[in-house]
Amino acid sequence: MQHTLPVIELPSADEDPNAATLLREAAHLVRSEFPAKKIKSLTAHMQSRLTLISIDKGSVVATAGLEIESDCQRAILEDIVVASEYQRRSLGSSMIKMLEAKARETGIATISVTPVRSAVGFYERLGYESGRWGNIIFDKAL
Ligand SMILES: CC(C)(COP(=O)(O)OP(=O)(O)OC[C@H]1O[C@@H](n2cnc3c(N)ncnc32)[C@H](O)[C@@H]1OP(=O)(O)O)[C@@H](O)C(=O)NCCC(=O)NCCS
Repeated sequence: MQHTLPVIELPSADEDPNAATLLREAAHLVRSEFPAKKIKSLTAHMQSRLTLISIDKGSVVATAGLEIESDCQRAILEDIVVASEYQRRSLGSSMIKMLEAKARETGIATISVTPVRSAVGFYERLGYESGRWGNIIFDKAL
């Protein structure tokens, strides 16, 4: 089934009175997959970088982040999570393509990710190739 859910940038508190709730939900979604993440530092980080979310029935069901390195040569995909009941409907790949487009607009030449083992095939399908750091980091030229 193809997804029909829109993907948006995490709004700021000025833009949306529900911004804090959306941020909290997105952080909890990430933490459900990566329990080691500390909610407090995670939420601060999600606010300061580019974070995408998708909402269904009032709840955040997917999120994805993009960190741009200070030298502006490389962008890093972070905290890519689609809630299990929404997986395999193109939400994950849509978010990645949006973040790639954002990075390209900024003049970034390479986008990278450090995938968990079970997600390697997902990134390979999107054109990411292993190589650096003993094949831990996967890169894609933009
Ligand atoms: C990995 C993840 C983000 C993929 O999101 P998704 O919305 O299910 O992916 P999509 O539906 O966009 O899939 C795109 C393609 O990749 C394939 N794919 C999806 N997950 C895959 C996986 N884990 N391994 C191999 N291929 C995968 C799909 O079949 C699809 O192929 P197609 O284009 O031939 O149909 C999602 O499964 C997830 O959140 N997993 C748990 C958290 C996680 O591992 N995050 C990544 C951390 S680096």
